[in-house]
Amino acid sequence: MGQVIYKERKNTNSTKWDDCLEKFGKEDLLPLWVADMDFEAPACVKEALQKYLDQGVFGYYKHSDGYEQAFMNWEASHHQYQVEKDWIRFAPGVVPAINWLLHILTNEGDPVLIMPPVYYPFKDALVNNHRTIVECPLIRRDTGYVMDYEGFEKSIVEQGVKLFVLCSPHNPVGRVWKEEELRKVMDICKKHQVYVISDEIHQDLEMSGYHHIPTATVGDYDEILVTLTAATKTFNLAACQNSIVIIPDAKLRERYDEYLTRIRISGGNSFGYIAVQSAYEEGAEWLKELLGIIEGNYRYLRETLEKELPKVWISNLEGTYLMWIDLGAYVRPEDMEKVVRDDCGLAVDYGAWFGSGENETFIRVNLATRRENIELAAERLIKAIK
Ligand SMILES: Cc1ncc(COP(=O)(O)O)c(C=O)c1O
Repeated sequence: MGQVIYKERKNTNSTKWDDCLEKFGKEDLLPLWVADMDFEAPACVKEALQKYLDQGVFGYYKHSDGYEQAFMNWEASHHQYQVEKDWIRFAPGVVPAINWLLHILTNEGDPVLIMPPVYYPFKDALVNNHRTIVECPLIRRDTGYVMDYEGFEKSIVEQGVKLFVLCSPHNPVGRVWKEEELRKVMDICKKHQVYVISDEIHQDLEMSGYHHIPTATVGDYDEILVTLTAATKTFNLAACQNSIVIIPDAKLRERYDEYLTRIRISGGNSFGYIAVQSAYEEGAEWLKELLGIIEGNYRYLRETLEKELPKVWISNLEGTYLMWIDLGAYVRPEDMEKVVRDDCGLAVDYGAWFGSGENETFIRVNLATRRENIELAAERLIKAIK
């Protein structure tokens, strides 16, 4: 038997499975939305947490040095990134860290740049913290998306951008940015002294032939760069609320530490540290099997849709387990919900959540589930659209 085990999650307090009525106004939808997986965490994680449960005391917790060491070993062996222990800081999630960093690196009203279509909590963070949104949309090409370097530099100069929130790999379009792509945008940011938050939470979810490159490794950007990552997406541990902030620059670290002192957050919960350490130490084989399942689901859905609905456009999946599909040749923007929710009974992330304009006929489909669910989704989409 394989190590990756599918789990029925209905009635387990799962956001994805048990929150459809609230989120989509309808129950009994097949949920392929929020980015977690319908698979159990690796056995090593369950064993480590069980051991901790068995000792029975849940008082104030000091995490072991093994936590940072496990992360540093993982980065070195999987991403050729030599992280130093001093650079590592804690956040309960990548999204909280982005919101904190907005306060640390910018002031109210400051222009902050994002590249839509992009993970919508980026924009939410700017709205909620009263920063000025500067959008430099990705450009759609035949197989996928590219960055608009000219537009990027122009926006930075003309609008006085202070911070850029980069998504690498990019959710929802599935790009794993190449070294030269990262270097180009980072050089522009360095030239104009723009801070960069590099959200690399999807770093380990690479399809075959693609390799994630940490932004920090493509040049000397310490003075402007903070990297955010986590084991929570990779190993399905989102509820453990544990993410990692990498700040190589001492002055920026000081500012981060000062902010955390002010909000009195000194670390996370014990379960998160234990789960993450064991996943990094022993989860590599589980991950390999998982990536095979995701890639298989991607190929199946892509080939099936392209055969039956040849005008569907699909962004090439290089990384993440999120498939970005344009139904615009068949469905008008105003009919998206009727077709996808009512006719197909699917709960997906709608393109409009990620950006306006042409994104409105897209859906983002979460592939991290068993094949039967992907087959069901394909069958329903084909039937409804045909
Ligand atoms: C790009 C990106 N960043 C952050 C997150 C969420 O991070 P966290 O749960 O650590 O706040 C997600 C989840 O889907 C994501 O796709």
